[in-house]
Amino acid sequence: MPHSLSPADAGKAAAAMASVAQVTDGMVLGLGTGSTAVWMVRALAHKVAEEDLTLTCVATSDRTAALATHLGLMVVDLDDVGRLDLTIDGADEFDPQFRLIKGGGGAHLREKLVAAQSDRMVVITDPSKDVATLGAFPLPIEVIQMGHRATMDRISAELAAADVNERTMQLRQAGYGRFETDEGNYVVDVSLARIGDPEALAMALSDVPGVVEHGLFLGLADSIVIGHPDGRAETRTLGQDPEWTIVDMAAAEALPNA
Ligand code: 5RP
Repeated sequence: MPHSLSPADAGKAAAAMASVAQVTDGMVLGLGTGSTAVWMVRALAHKVAEEDLTLTCVATSDRTAALATHLGLMVVDLDDVGRLDLTIDGADEFDPQFRLIKGGGGAHLREKLVAAQSDRMVVITDPSKDVATLGAFPLPIEVIQMGHRATMDRISAELAAADVNERTMQLRQAGYGRFETDEGNYVVDVSLARIGDPEALAMALSDVPGVVEHGLFLGLADSIVIGHPDGRAETRTLGQDPEWTIVDMAAAEALPNA
């Protein structure tokens, strides 16, 4: 069917729509953040209305909570549910071991909290995020405002000993000011070019006083759904053969608006 979505949106819609096929009645769901997650929330709202499902959702950011609520989904706090059945979220990069870089949208603290409480995490992406080695995308590190310069110096000292190719740090800006997360923290984006040992780096960064959370998601993702502009979606699950789905792009265009 012809459609008027841009290639980028068509890929995101394909991944999002293929991912919500895994949602069943009664689930407690984690809702990710980002432009692909927006498609997923729209697809989910449509599915809930069409199939008369009852879902309980936990959002990973204020903006996702606002969108989900606006589209009629029930959103509660993480502590209201304890465990979640499934979290569907985007990513900035993934490698063959399903290690991720997240936090391009600055929501990785809540995203990691929600993913860590979930039985399964499905990541919705596009082919540009599929990398052999993590690190082309700058690694977001959330730091508390107090003493953030000193925290950046300590991060720099850790990076000096890390197996990476670059070590350029930038405090994230938004408009004319500093970007602040939903928790009121700053984000430092670190260009590393190549992360040789993500586990070692994750451990080193977690030990730095002032670092609240970093965007390395290790051992959390179970499946990766890769949406293509032609409407095909490839679902990769560790230890299984990939599965392909064809998504109707005309149906994507008809989803409830964000
Ligand atoms: C937000 C994230 C996003 O999931 C990630 O940045 C991908 O976003 P998009 O779907 O817009 O490419 O980690 O903190």
